[in-house]
Amino acid sequence: MSVQTKLTRRSVRDFRKGGDPIVCLTAYTAPIAKLLDPHADILLVGDSLGMVLYGLPSTLAVSLDMMIAHGAAVMRGSERACVMVDMPFGSYQESPAQAFRNAARILAETGAAAVKLEGGVEMAETIRFLVSRGIPVCGHIGLMPQSVNASGFRAQGRDEAELAGLRDDARAVAATGAFAMVIEGTYEAAARELTGLVDIPTIGIGASPACDGQVLVSDDMLGLFTDFTPRFVKRYANLAEDIGRAAESYAADVRARRFPGPEHCFGVKKG
Ligand code: KIV
Repeated sequence: MSVQTKLTRRSVRDFRKGGDPIVCLTAYTAPIAKLLDPHADILLVGDSLGMVLYGLPSTLAVSLDMMIAHGAAVMRGSERACVMVDMPFGSYQESPAQAFRNAARILAETGAAAVKLEGGVEMAETIRFLVSRGIPVCGHIGLMPQSVNASGFRAQGRDEAELAGLRDDARAVAATGAFAMVIEGTYEAAARELTGLVDIPTIGIGASPACDGQVLVSDDMLGLFTDFTPRFVKRYANLAEDIGRAAESYAADVRARRFPGPEHCFGVKKG
């Protein structure tokens, strides 16, 4: 008789201050989710998919329907990690009611556990509105890619005024009931201070090791997205080179007519 243990997914309640460092990676498709699932605590369906998968210049044109389609695919491909889905630009900033309507769609249509949205003090009321109505939220402060037109892509926390703003943002998000917050693109001293200031886990990206966990865009760490690589990204593979070499070998085989049909394959009988 075999004993079957039902695999259960990580839940947002598993992530606590002072726990093990949180391993978070982006995933946008079912096959990549399946490969990353055994190793990640959280799979983030990031709106970075606009740039990484769709070749868009920023995340601004990513739609709610795109996020839902990719969120559902990541859920199908994974069974263990907690899956959270980014709310795209324009789907939550208008009002708490708009945010609730769209976050509820994401959770209902993907089966994901949580949403993430960008913003500090200015989004606190919205995050509180969602959390109090049963929607787990991860905040995102520091460098916020959806604000690229207003703030550009640059590290945050350079001077006392910026640091004061970051402190306010971190405190405001932590007070909403958010289960965690991403801190992006801040200097180590700032990340350390913000992490010490709040009682929920911080997940850093380009924000030093001083956070309670880390997230990377998987295509960056796998060497698959090569248009540009942020300086802080540590590469663990060079899949773009592997793919180039494989495609070159395939093209050579096709041109040399070295492509086997079933009759040339071991174990397949001629019919
Ligand atoms: O969209 C994304 O991938 C993100 C991470 C960079 C944190 O928000």
